[in-house]
This record gives sequence, structure tokens and C-alpha cells, in this order.
Amino acid sequence: MNTSFAEQTKVEFERFAPDWSITVFDCIDSTMNASRALMSTEDTKLPHCVIAGEQDAGRGRDGRIWTSSPGGFYATYMVSAAADGARLSGFSLMVGATIANLFEKYGLKIQLKWPNDLMSADGKKLGGILIETVPRAKETLLLIGIGINFDNPIDSATMSSVRSLGAASVQREEWGAELATMLEHALLDFVQQGLRAELGRWSKRDFLLGKSVEIESGDKIITGIADGISSLGALRIVTSLGIEEIWSGHITKVAHR
Ligand code: BTN
Repeated sequence: MNTSFAEQTKVEFERFAPDWSITVFDCIDSTMNASRALMSTEDTKLPHCVIAGEQDAGRGRDGRIWTSSPGGFYATYMVSAAADGARLSGFSLMVGATIANLFEKYGLKIQLKWPNDLMSADGKKLGGILIETVPRAKETLLLIGIGINFDNPIDSATMSSVRSLGAASVQREEWGAELATMLEHALLDFVQQGLRAELGRWSKRDFLLGKSVEIESGDKIITGIADGISSLGALRIVTSLGIEEIWSGHITKVAHR
């Protein structure tokens, strides 16, 4: 008998992340929206993960749509951090590093494209991270949204998937449960010591490092050579005027030198 996605996800969370509560949907508009609704209507116990087999209004960064057909991985991990939002600003880079560490355990090497893209070595997008924060009296609630192409159909010209990369042994239900526990540890590490523990590994996986880039940041367009990330998570760019640190922005062009 085939086990359903929801049943298998519950089994794997009991095995790998027993302190997490979870809500599983076969289909939902967006796990981000569902997480917010859970937080406002119920006394949901944290940490909590909302996970869906498919989304019909998945949200990407900068208001983009995140296409979420069956077979992909779509989850929002809700955790509480004893820190204010400003101190957590570089945490999305830590999430990317944690995802890369987990894939590496399965023999899959991925790259990280500042700020929040997960890439295969051939420069195609494998997944993305969307983090939203909800300030509370003495803590910050983090909604860590993660979308990864696993077995879903993709446009292979621009995207890759866990399956297209040949990582046949990774199952999304188990992978998602293992990630929950790793994210909790990553958050504790980040609150105590920022990106320090992951900076070296982030650099080795830095997709933009040494490439010629163009970035839209606010009303500015910055061009130069990517020179890694700072210890606080800014992207360093060598421009004709010297080094600039970019805290938020959107990469509009990337070229090999
Ligand atoms: C990006 O634009 O690269 C970030 C994409 C994040 C998509 C995930 S899928 C699970 C969660 N629910 C959403 O609606 N979005 C995030």
C-alpha cells in the first residue's frame, strides 16, 4: 500500500524532528499565508512546520509568484528567536548554508547565490528562501519559507531539480524533517555568534564570487566584481570607486569575467 505524502511527512518528523508540531496540506494557497493564519487563530505550539504537496498561490521574493506544482518541496518553518528583527537580518544566509549542508550529506553539492537563491553548479536555480518576521514582546517570530525543486516539472533551460541532478536517494519528506532540526540549531548558533560558523563554507559555495555583476539596490544600480559576503551578510562588490557593501537588492546580471 502506498503511504500518502501527509502520512510519510508525519512519520519522518516523528523520527527526525520529534519536538516539532506540523500541519500538512495536500494543496494550499501558500504555506506562508497558512502559517500566519495558524499563528493568529490558534495557540500553535512552536516550533511548527507548515508543509504542502502543492501551492496554488506560492509566493517568491519581491512579490514574485513561486510556481509550486506537485512533486516539489514547499514548507514554512516557524520558530521563535530571542532577538529583535534587526539582529536577525543575516539569518537567511545561514538558512541557505544549512540547506547546502544537508544536501551535501546526501552527496549533492549546491551553490548559494546572495541573498537567498539555491543554485546547481551549472548556474540553474534549484530553490529559494523567503523569510518573514513577526515582532513580539520579547522575541521575534520567524517564518522561514523554503521552496525546492525535487520531482516537480521544471524549465530545464533555467532551473534544476534534485532529481535532474541525479540525487535519487533524497526523499523530500525525510529531507524536510531533517532540515527542521538543523534549522533550530542554526538559529541558536546564529543568535550566539552570527554567521561566523558558516562564513568559510558559505564562501566555498558562493556562486557570485569573482563574477561580474549588476545589482539593483533601492534606486541605485551597482556594477562590479562580487567579492564575497561580509561577516554580517552584506554582499561585497569591487566597483570602480572601491568596495561597496550591499545589504539588500536584486541581482540583475551575472557574467563570468
Ligand atoms: C524566491 O523567490 O526565491 C523564494 C521562494 C520561496 C518559495 C517558498 S515555497 C514555501 C513557501 N511558501 C510560499 O508561498 N513561498 C515559500
